[in-house]
Amino acid sequence: MAAAVAEPAAKTVFRLDGGDATYAFGVNEHGELQQLYWGGRIASTDAVAPAEAEREWASFDSPYNNTPQEYAGWGAGLFQEAALKVTFADGNRDLVLHYVASTRPDVHSIEVKLKDIHRAVTVTLHYKIDPDTGILARSATIENGEPQPILIEQAAAAAYSLPPAHYTHNYLTGRWAGEWTLNSEAIHGGERVLESRRGTTGHQANPWFAIGKGDADEEHGEAWFGALAWSGSWRITIEQDQLDKVRVTGGFNPFDFGYQLKSGETLETPVFYAGYSDRGFGGASRLMARFTLAEVLPQAPHPKPRPVIYNSWEATGFDVTEAGQEALAEKAAALGIDRFVVDDGWFGQRKTDNAGLGDWYVNQQKFPNGLKPLIDKVHSLGMDFGLWVEPEMVNPDSDLYRKHPDWVLNFPGRPRTEERNQLVLNLARQDVRDYVFGFLDKLLTENRIAFLKWDYNRNWSEPGWDQVPVAEQKQVYVKFIRNLYSILAELRAKHPGIEIESCSGGGGRVDLGILHYTDEVWPSDNTDPLDRLTQHDGFARAYPAQVMLSWVTDSPHGMNNRTTSLAYRFLVSMEASLGIGANLDKWTEEDTSTAKRLIAAYHGVQKTVVQGDLYRLISPANGSEFTATEMVSPDKGQGVLFAYVHSTQEGRGFPRVQLLGLEPAATYALSNIEGHTLPGTPAEASGAWWMRHGIDIDLRGDFQAAAFRFDRK
Ligand code: GLA
Repeated sequence: MAAAVAEPAAKTVFRLDGGDATYAFGVNEHGELQQLYWGGRIASTDAVAPAEAEREWASFDSPYNNTPQEYAGWGAGLFQEAALKVTFADGNRDLVLHYVASTRPDVHSIEVKLKDIHRAVTVTLHYKIDPDTGILARSATIENGEPQPILIEQAAAAAYSLPPAHYTHNYLTGRWAGEWTLNSEAIHGGERVLESRRGTTGHQANPWFAIGKGDADEEHGEAWFGALAWSGSWRITIEQDQLDKVRVTGGFNPFDFGYQLKSGETLETPVFYAGYSDRGFGGASRLMARFTLAEVLPQAPHPKPRPVIYNSWEATGFDVTEAGQEALAEKAAALGIDRFVVDDGWFGQRKTDNAGLGDWYVNQQKFPNGLKPLIDKVHSLGMDFGLWVEPEMVNPDSDLYRKHPDWVLNFPGRPRTEERNQLVLNLARQDVRDYVFGFLDKLLTENRIAFLKWDYNRNWSEPGWDQVPVAEQKQVYVKFIRNLYSILAELRAKHPGIEIESCSGGGGRVDLGILHYTDEVWPSDNTDPLDRLTQHDGFARAYPAQVMLSWVTDSPHGMNNRTTSLAYRFLVSMEASLGIGANLDKWTEEDTSTAKRLIAAYHGVQKTVVQGDLYRLISPANGSEFTATEMVSPDKGQGVLFAYVHSTQEGRGFPRVQLLGLEPAATYALSNIEGHTLPGTPAEASGAWWMRHGIDIDLRGDFQAAAFRFDRK
């Protein structure tokens, strides 16, 4: 790292160029760090003018409030969201951060040090731009150089600013079994708060945003987007100020926050990633996906496409036995499944969700000889083995709870609210962290396990931590998550090759923080294929299809009684990372042969589907009758098109579909997903033909699907 260079305080301009984006900021005449430009890449010869603070607005809004600061301390008459708010030991709460110094570790990174105008509180802002996608990673390190502790009441990772304009804001909300709803609304004066106060990411909102300018749409116009890499309580605010500027601030949720920082201690914020696209919201999600694959995932930059898994949860529930699982494993192997996963129910005294969580020994009634015979059998069938765990939880009816009732989050003397009959272990405690790491390490050491499905089936309540001094108890919001990450990191380091899925009753813990340590996520407990189509659509705005696991399950569906064909269910799950969760004991021979054929077909397109560029040609959102999703491999060698009809009326046919993203001059052969040629369409044509003329799809009725591949000749 280059040594800190003392810069002339005012007029310094910092600039980061990456992909098609440029980000510039500078020090203004007061010493504040101010954003100067964020948008399409400008010429290297273009000089960005030095920062000048905004003027005041009458006697009510000072320049400090109006200036688009990169990281504003709460003080000096700031009414916008502060990046940082502290209380000093003497009761002073005024914090004004001015530029001190900067380093440039490399051409893509800048570190800027800010300090309060009088007190020894410093903030180091970290900036790194990805040269490929132009996505910025921003975070802050706050250090207390005062002799006394300070209390941090609000700490953002970063604030991003946009100049006055008409903007549309897209964001994702949901609930259990109903995650990934896309919302879109005009930004008006005031603030929109996206957040979780739940101690975890949550199903109810996802820490992602996209903002389009003017009439930006799926494929056109300018869009700014970002995602917070944090799996604890989080907050992103989208604020249009009194001068119509927009500021997006993201970091720890200030609700019930209070992080005591002793003299000499530091607090690291999560990373708040953000980027720019001049290809609308579709371009934004393609950049996010590319970046996540190449920079965030544990197997980055080249994550392997996910194995096709079988999971027995919907087939057997808690009723897992050695014989039952072995029988399912045989059937799964015959389909061409790569990985067999035993879900909940294998451990402790687990018969229902009333008991057993916390007791991670193999249940002797269900597996009299331990897991080894089943694991050996799974291997002998040519699959690897995965296992469900829910490490951070405990049922009061468990040996662990009887031994350590003090290990759960609670306020002594107050009720302990149970959800799904379980309590949350306080992972911020070192002894709990050691226990959790210890049992997982033992499990992986003693068994040939390739994969853990790591579940988390409730949110926090009564988040007390009474073993530490009162002033430190709220650190639980940070230390719990850091310990979760450190356990995941240590397990991966000690057991190279282990793969992990993040699940939280479906999609309750999906964010770029957990995705740094986990290879895939379970987007929803709702596996109904029509519902999954809209969920996939919302999910893939923020995260790559690679991490989006989608099971084919039974019909009629248990949640809504909807009946769909097996082929339709397959084609829905095949636009993601494919899994099977159906009860194979009930399958007919015809079902088995359909599944075999489609799993084999999936392997022919999987890499393009899960790692390629995604185009939402027709989005299922907002009650559309049709969906058309296209993926193109990065080298444009293959395109894949999925078409779905939800329910057509009056014999209405599928709209002609014009593809995107192919090479216009190249020739592409068309076949259905299984490689068969199609009547009524050219067998091959140029990329230009497929993109301009398009393809007619003969699909009508209820819940029909078709899929096609375009292979460059
Ligand atoms: C959660 C998960 C399910 C399943 C059950 C097991 O609900 O999302 O997939 O693993 O727990 O109890």
